[in-house]
Amino acid sequence: MNKHSPAISFTLGDQAQSVAADPARRLSEILREDLNLKSVKIGCDAGDCGACTVLVDGEQHCACLTMAGQVAGRRIETVETAGEEVARLQKSFLAHGAAQCGVCTPGMLMAAADLLRRAPRPSVAEVEGALGGVLCRCTGYSKIIDAVVGADAPLADAAAPDVGASVGARLPRLDGGPKVDGTEVYGADYRRDGSRLVRAVRSPHFHARFRIGDAEAWAPDGVDAVITAKDVKGENRFGVIPPLADQPALAEGVARFLGEAVALVVGDPTAVEAIDLETFPIIWTPLPHEITQDKAGAPGAPQLHSGRADNTLIRGRVACGDPDAALQEAAHVVTGSVQTSYVEHAYIEPEAGAAWMDGDTLVIQACTQAPIMDRDDTAKVLGLPVDRVRIIPSAAGGGFGAKLDLSVQPLLGLAVLGTGRPCHMVWTRTESMLASTKRHPGALTATIGADREGRVTAMKVHGEFNTGAYSSWGPTVATRVPVHASGPYLTPNYLATSRAVHSNGPTSGAFRGFGVPQAAIAQETLYDELAEACGQDRLAFRRLNALSDGDATPSGQVLLGVGVADCLAALQPDWDRALQEAEAHNAAGPVKRRGVGVASCWYGCGNTALPNPSTIRLGLTGDGAVRLHQGATDIGQGSNTVIAQIAADALGLPVSQFELIGPDTALTPDCGKTSASRQTYITGKAA
Ligand code: FES
Ligand code: FES
Repeated sequence: MNKHSPAISFTLGDQAQSVAADPARRLSEILREDLNLKSVKIGCDAGDCGACTVLVDGEQHCACLTMAGQVAGRRIETVETAGEEVARLQKSFLAHGAAQCGVCTPGMLMAAADLLRRAPRPSVAEVEGALGGVLCRCTGYSKIIDAVVGADAPLADAAAPDVGASVGARLPRLDGGPKVDGTEVYGADYRRDGSRLVRAVRSPHFHARFRIGDAEAWAPDGVDAVITAKDVKGENRFGVIPPLADQPALAEGVARFLGEAVALVVGDPTAVEAIDLETFPIIWTPLPHEITQDKAGAPGAPQLHSGRADNTLIRGRVACGDPDAALQEAAHVVTGSVQTSYVEHAYIEPEAGAAWMDGDTLVIQACTQAPIMDRDDTAKVLGLPVDRVRIIPSAAGGGFGAKLDLSVQPLLGLAVLGTGRPCHMVWTRTESMLASTKRHPGALTATIGADREGRVTAMKVHGEFNTGAYSSWGPTVATRVPVHASGPYLTPNYLATSRAVHSNGPTSGAFRGFGVPQAAIAQETLYDELAEACGQDRLAFRRLNALSDGDATPSGQVLLGVGVADCLAALQPDWDRALQEAEAHNAAGPVKRRGVGVASCWYGCGNTALPNPSTIRLGLTGDGAVRLHQGATDIGQGSNTVIAQIAADALGLPVSQFELIGPDTALTPDCGKTSASRQTYITGKAA
């Protein structure tokens, strides 16, 4: 927008509105930036995710694809301005637990409001059709569909649970209000007045040496600072496993993956946004690269880090019994290999945050799963004592593991320290996909044997995992997979080995399961083959081999309270019915055939072979409220509510008597990171 932009008039809710805007400007930008309607979320800026859905003359539209000139004279509705249908839907979403991280919720509400005006009592199919353009990465959609179908008759407000009975009671999430009314503050939703925009110059090569030219002479008007690795005052290495920390905040002379940040441009938001970063003065010398683990892990491949021969970051191993002898004696043996790919987390909210100085403390408010780790690593990179860095997690619009790693935090810190001004940084979807961590691609080969009765006697498995350019959670994947590769089945003789291999692909990190799902694909596929070899039904084979109370896992842990056999037994009626239905369907010879499958996966909650502490602080205010200081980040999984429920029962108080504080590294104790499904168990236990 500039002073010559024409005025564009439209109705916002019921109010006439006029903004000076370039007619080609995105409506989403006008609503968020000019009119401060932050319920309009930006997930992709490309019409794919629907997070920016608003109503234009009553019909849902992606605001990111709607130009200002297209809305002149029309009526715009957002969550902040919409009427009665949205109010009903908000209640229904809360009652049905349909908002988890909540970043998709405003878009869902608007799409649903459009539908309810046309079809006040919609069918499931109508809801699915109407909401088809809005993506949700958390809920699996069923609760959202229930909430819309049930919007006409929302569930009665859940009764307050009795004292001592909060755990297990159905209650709306305690932090749900802002998620449904659009006031929740995600990483891109807050910045200080006068905040400067930070953009990263990124490598266009998988592997390249580079030399930065005269950035000062290049800098267009409005740029306050260009920041490079030379400006890093601390140790330019971060990583979640400190002894293996190897990732620079800004690359130093060599970029090891496509999209790696090499410099920051900081300044006036409008001016910096307009810069074509391809004009940045930098000379690249491409180097040989490999992006698959088989090629990168072979002798002679381009080396990424000194001291890591054949690009091997780490190896893992778990063994018990004598698997070779047991396989020799087995009645049936199967062998197979699987290869899995990189997987992008694709949370709807790309990485974003803001930072500023408060006295001599650097404050960073950004989306994260691990505030204490962010604080410690950011302080290390910036050369500050940890007590001069404060991390305030914003709401996180999904994480699924990738927001365990630093993203914008050290870059924001460098920008604030380099300019003395508050700064903000919002990654585009492309940047998020390039620079965030991914699920490890895995290549696994396994051999499993069983006796004549179909009991598994032995398993051998080896997995090669592509850990990408930097270590991130590669050590956890490489050590966790051997612990879990047997699946939840008794395996008395076992050898599991693994290797995490660096490549010039994106850095692989944490993603729901730390490599265990990749291993489960190999093991469960072979279980199907082994069941067939044994002449057994696939479910019966798994029930026969499922772990029970008192069984030892391959790593020697004796388990109690094992539920997998009961779980598989509960499937039996549905399994039988599904098999019959598929058989009947396929007997008619249709082009589309049906198949029926079953698989199990197990997973140890919390850190692998590392300390796992959480600390909770509770206090009493002068007027008798209980303050629960808990530092676990709630990224949609519900820990704000769950921890309060547990604390309420522990103290014999109603959950309504609790005030929630945190997370905030200046206010709340260390509850560890939100990962590996650990918060309910571990922070819950602290509570
Ligand atoms: Fe507009 Fe994704 S569709 S932000
Ligand atoms: Fe839908 Fe998180 S609740 S994306």
